[in-house]
Amino acid sequence: MNDLLDRLRELLLDTGYTIDGVRERLGDVAATALSREEPVPALRATEGDDPLGTLVRLWWLGAAVDVRRAPRGLPVEELAAAGLVTVEGGRITSTVHLQPWETGGYVVSDRKVRPGDPALRADHVVGAGGASANLAQLVSRRPVGRALDLGTGCGVQVLHLDGRAEEIVATDVNPRALDLARLSWGLSGIREVDARQGSLFDPVPGERFDLIVSNPPFVISPAGRFSYRESGFQADDFCRDLVRLAPRHLAPGGTCQLLANWLHVGGEDWQDRVGGWLAETGCDGWAVQRDVQDPAEYVELWLRDAAEQGTPRYRELYEDWLGWFESENVTGIGFGWITLNDSGSLDPVVRVEELGHRVELPVGGYVDEVLGSITGAHRLTDAELLGARLAPADGMLEERIGPPGAEDPARIVLRQTRGLRRSAQVGTVEAALAGVCDGQYPLDPLLAAIAELTGEDPDDLRAKAPEGLRSLIAEGFFHISTG
Ligand SMILES: C[S@@+](CC[C@H](N)C(=O)[O-])C[C@H]1O[C@@H](n2cnc3c(N)ncnc32)[C@H](O)[C@@H]1O
Repeated sequence: MNDLLDRLRELLLDTGYTIDGVRERLGDVAATALSREEPVPALRATEGDDPLGTLVRLWWLGAAVDVRRAPRGLPVEELAAAGLVTVEGGRITSTVHLQPWETGGYVVSDRKVRPGDPALRADHVVGAGGASANLAQLVSRRPVGRALDLGTGCGVQVLHLDGRAEEIVATDVNPRALDLARLSWGLSGIREVDARQGSLFDPVPGERFDLIVSNPPFVISPAGRFSYRESGFQADDFCRDLVRLAPRHLAPGGTCQLLANWLHVGGEDWQDRVGGWLAETGCDGWAVQRDVQDPAEYVELWLRDAAEQGTPRYRELYEDWLGWFESENVTGIGFGWITLNDSGSLDPVVRVEELGHRVELPVGGYVDEVLGSITGAHRLTDAELLGARLAPADGMLEERIGPPGAEDPARIVLRQTRGLRRSAQVGTVEAALAGVCDGQYPLDPLLAAIAELTGEDPDDLRAKAPEGLRSLIAEGFFHISTG
């Protein structure tokens, strides 16, 4: 099989079946329509008989193509024998969706259903998409020894881990997912992934990893009809259990990063709910809510995802799902990221926050620093802070807002132009500090100088400044200079 996949990869690359090649072949309108799951412009754009257009129709659009139009060298009979295509009446049809991926590799999955298609099979294997890319962007770029991809599906996270981890274990409860993932890895030239079937951490008893990643079946529904997105666990228990169990499988210093959904329940603070999951782990933890939807929006999103809008069962499914949310007093559903780090500290730090705006990508390029700032700030005593040399974040801007002509601004805002692009309203002391600190002098004499300028009592300033500064350090506005 590996030989067949190697030859197929070469043919795909030679024909230009790459992300850029497909986009160029389709043109902007058809490519953009396809990103909205609208295949008609792409079908029209590939009506000719050029090899690349034929591959796009066959592998991406799922259209039958004439055998005579198959690119030269496409091993049709071998692909049919391997079950990847069927040939009937002189036409080839693909049994899978095969798409180029941003790593330069290929991802094999089931084809996405569109309105009017037959219903999804319960063991549908979802292709790589926005959520897959989100997790890949979040995962730390630090090279690691052992990595685990829990719920590998089409195997896309392994494409991102390849070259960064010495050893990769990938698990999934769905055996079909592992079959298709093996094709993705083979076609991407990745060998030696240890693929294991089973639920949650069952396939890796007693084993520890330096990095655990998971884009889990996070969708919260009453029924658990599709394993590609729903675990069948109650409410948001799957993500909670994943978080709770992860530390037993983290090597010292190891990190676990996952996407998650969580419930907003009437009368309960969602931050307490998610914070509670993290606090139980004994690890440092950072949870970020990137979006929140009301129950109706959520139900519509996932009924659309399974192309169930317009079907006879749509209303019944919608009512059951919404009714269940109502019975559970659910007011919203949060979407976000969770990062755990087994730092070994006896004083673990948990931060739960909302970040709805665009951040610099990939977050994985600086996520270790983010966690370092959060935990470092928390563990710094006032005396240590006063003796520390602070430097402002790279590219930080100060905005002064106030009525025209006013001597003093009504508001001063520090704004990060890099990383998480946070902004914070600050007082004159923090703003002055941002202007003068450059990692050269300890905080204490800088505060004394600022007190002299502002007429404040230096001892008062020394006593009250650390609290606000600690929070600005945790949020990455200031770094502790080690140089
Ligand atoms: C949203 S897909 C993620 C696929 C892929 N990792 C990605 O990033 O696109 C979730 C995967 O979790 C798998 N899964 C569902 N229930 C599971 C369980 N109890 N334990 C492990 N994996 C599970 C599904 O079969 C599916 O492949």
